[in-house]
Amino acid sequence: MTLNLFEDEDAPPPYAAPEPLAPGAVLLRGFALDGAQALMQSVQQIIMAAPLRHLVVPGGHTMSVAMSNCGALGWTSDRSGYRYTPTDPLSGRPWPAMPDGFKRLTARAAAAAGFDGFRPDACLINRYEPGARLSLHQDRDEGDLSAPIVSVSLGLPAVFLFGSARRSDRPVRYRLLHGDVAVWGGPSRLAYHGVAPMADGEHAGLGRQRINLTFRCAGHDSRRRADAQG
Ligand code: SIN
Ligand code: FE2
Repeated sequence: MTLNLFEDEDAPPPYAAPEPLAPGAVLLRGFALDGAQALMQSVQQIIMAAPLRHLVVPGGHTMSVAMSNCGALGWTSDRSGYRYTPTDPLSGRPWPAMPDGFKRLTARAAAAAGFDGFRPDACLINRYEPGARLSLHQDRDEGDLSAPIVSVSLGLPAVFLFGSARRSDRPVRYRLLHGDVAVWGGPSRLAYHGVAPMADGEHAGLGRQRINLTFRCAGHDSRRRADAQG
């Protein structure tokens, strides 16, 4: 048993010490475990309003990961390119609002990783079924590259590949479990990353799937944005 040194009711739950991945990038194992049930319920509601869909990338390939979004902006792709949009192209309506619980959790995670004042305006929801994968890529469609990416994993485990800003550097493999949070920003903001083909399995709460939430500052009017680059 450990003593509770913090009287503050808002103090984060205990979790393992941040595990460094690279300068500006850490893994917060189990950071989202306490709130995972509530996160999953919110995801259910979001995907009822904005269903998961397999997007087509500009090359014509259909992604094996199914996606949706919540927040002021959502990431989408079609044959003409990748972009953030304020509305869901399927319905023409705004993306579902980002729940306050998502904002609080990710601000705490970003702070634990050394990034204060994180206020995401976009949350990409990725759903992986067995066999789904995400090839190595950089997240660089966001308007505010001074803010980190905060990534929350739920459900089945995945092998996360994390490299550097150079595509030719061989990525390191990390097993991400239900409740793990990864944060990358600063010198690692443009690191290449991806997810290896998902193994089959059954998760007690989520069944045969993994849900990943990535939080981004996608708009140009973010509080953290320091320059006027368009
Ligand atoms: C992403 O790169 O958007 C998702 C990463 C993950 O699923 O862990
Ligand atoms: Fe990404």
